[in-house]
Amino acid sequence: MLFDKRIAELREQLTRHNQLYYQDAKPEIPDSEYDRLFRELEDLEKAHPELHDPNSPTLRVGGAPLDAFAQRPHLLPMLSIDDLFAEEEVAEFFKRLQKGLGLETIPLTVEPKIDGVACSLVYRDGALDYALTRGDGTRGDDISQNVRTIRNLPLTLENAPPLLEVRGEIFMPSEGFAKLNEKRDEDGLDTFANPRNATAGTLKSLDPKVVAARPLAFLAHGLGAHEDTNLQTEDDFRQLLSQFQIPRNAPIWHVETLDKVLAAIRELDVKRHDLGHGTDGAVIKVLDFGQRETLGFTSRAPRWVAAFKYPPEQKETLLKQITIQVGRTGVLTPVAELEPVFVSGTTVSRATLHNQEEIERKDVRIGDTILVEKAGEIIPSVVQVVLSKRPTDARPYHLPTVLNHQCPSCHGPIEKAEGFVAWRCVNFECPAQAVNSITHFASRKALDLDGLGESVAIKLVESKLSSSPLDLFTLTLEDLANLLLDPAKSSDGLTTSKERRFGEKRATTLINSLNNARTEMPLNRWLFAMGISQIGESSARELSRLHEKLTDLPGSPIVSDLADLPDFEELQKSKRKKENHPRLQQYKIDDNLGPVAAQNLRSFFQSEAGQTVLTKLAELGIDPKSDNFGPDPDAATEGLPLVGKTFVITGALSAPRSEFKKLIEANGGKVSGSVSSKTGFLLSGEGGGSKQTKAESLGVPVIDEETLQAMLTS
Ligand code: IVH
Repeated sequence: MLFDKRIAELREQLTRHNQLYYQDAKPEIPDSEYDRLFRELEDLEKAHPELHDPNSPTLRVGGAPLDAFAQRPHLLPMLSIDDLFAEEEVAEFFKRLQKGLGLETIPLTVEPKIDGVACSLVYRDGALDYALTRGDGTRGDDISQNVRTIRNLPLTLENAPPLLEVRGEIFMPSEGFAKLNEKRDEDGLDTFANPRNATAGTLKSLDPKVVAARPLAFLAHGLGAHEDTNLQTEDDFRQLLSQFQIPRNAPIWHVETLDKVLAAIRELDVKRHDLGHGTDGAVIKVLDFGQRETLGFTSRAPRWVAAFKYPPEQKETLLKQITIQVGRTGVLTPVAELEPVFVSGTTVSRATLHNQEEIERKDVRIGDTILVEKAGEIIPSVVQVVLSKRPTDARPYHLPTVLNHQCPSCHGPIEKAEGFVAWRCVNFECPAQAVNSITHFASRKALDLDGLGESVAIKLVESKLSSSPLDLFTLTLEDLANLLLDPAKSSDGLTTSKERRFGEKRATTLINSLNNARTEMPLNRWLFAMGISQIGESSARELSRLHEKLTDLPGSPIVSDLADLPDFEELQKSKRKKENHPRLQQYKIDDNLGPVAAQNLRSFFQSEAGQTVLTKLAELGIDPKSDNFGPDPDAATEGLPLVGKTFVITGALSAPRSEFKKLIEANGGKVSGSVSSKTGFLLSGEGGGSKQTKAESLGVPVIDEETLQAMLTS
């Protein structure tokens, strides 16, 4: 075979360049060269599915989605650790070690407790075999596909023992987490509460491409099962990790007495804020594996390890003022303006107070001394008021009164809807919302307007060229080309040049994408772009399945029925769902579109703002059309030849698999990723490999392209 050599060579090269890029930060080749090698390997692998390798560098960008995670037993149970909450408890732990070992001093290590998701990696004969979550400690979810996308992790080890199980933590570095949330916020998606949630949420995704796009990282902190390794201490294990370039947890202290343990814990408390990831404690471990064995286990945790938990750092500071932030959807959020104070590694000068109810619940007054902490070590929050320090002239805060019932940005009217905690500005032309609503309107997942990011949106609003998204459609090429932007910063960041113009070139691109949005962008993108509360990407898609064009929405009986569902539920307490509604059931509306979204949509179209939008769209001659219209799901597939049949595709076919997937789906069939007893047919090309074997063993018929063709025409 000519190609197996080349494939092996490319895999080796790409693995090395990955390592140089992601771990050593010393790339040796330009990105373009890397991409070229990558594509060559991808093409060869497509043509030779029989040479599939789950650890191929091409799978680092994520393979095919799974239907579900398989479960597997752990080679050794994954136990938990006893927590210590005070220095006295550390002293007791140390005494227990002394007693258990009959020694005065004991070699120990102290290292950060990483706030992430525990993971076990099993390497067999130098290749990552599989990766499991902790699960219930004896069995975990097989998340191998997702773990293979984590860039700082080697998938192959040189000169490795036959078996090596490495345990560690998967986490999201603070910087990557902040960027991810920023991006999600821009795209109108919910943000993650903290990096741990973001990590856990990401790892639960069945689509490894989603995982590959998230900034996850791994750090090893423990040895699991192993064969032929001759490891005597934690230091030997760490040496082995470093030999294999498996990233290790750091920093680590080597100590032998209680005083030194406590000193290390205190030093780590200072250093941990600069590690670039969340930590919530210090792990203290016995260094020597022989001594670990002597100490043994209780049913839930080893006796040779404990975790000291740092209390979240809280600081007192003065609440100087309460200001209001106006969000993209007009939500008015009260923000505590604080005397700057250093908490958990950064200076905090503002903290959200969430809403008026929260202010009242905590009885927060301007002039109070308050306690702040960083929840999940990232987001500052107000814990409580220090009542003993309340000055006599502390002023209570009542949002609508202080604001005189006006939006601080546009002086438009504000409202608090029944059942909601938030006050909102309901003026669609509000400039505070204009920057946000225009930025959202233009974002990639909305109308994808080229070159229109937040900084340009700010300038458009400031220069009064646009005060709402639809104003963009009346901009001229000249207006845009002459728009003045902020001066560019020089590379040293010290000097600034003159103001820059937006320029003809970028203006032309933007006008072109506006024209594209006007005539080509489908209804769902427009609905998402409008930034109506609760109408996200998926609900917009479902709405566009149910409606042919935008102008069908204001009077839509479907929206109206759906919006009225809660009342309907009142009437029929036993049958609560939209599936049971006399008119809604035929549409099989999915869970992404519920009564609250429908109510918001209806009140939007009934509001003055919504009416203005409809009028403006009519004047502009814009009426976006659905590209997935098919309100009756049965009618859509009825009579198609492959209805009710599920296919799995494998091997080399005459066209990419995606083409066959489209063909099957267009004919009413379904395509799934792995063969099971529920699979109807395995469409197999050259070299069907393991899937073919599995299909045969399950009695699933294996068919070729011609047979598929015949099924379509029969
Ligand atoms: S050692 C017997 N070291 O914390 C378990 N664990 O709360 C020995 N964790 O399940 C584990 N950082 O996933 C160890 N530096 C560290 C750690 C660490 C985080 C996790 C680990 C464990 C959990 C227990």
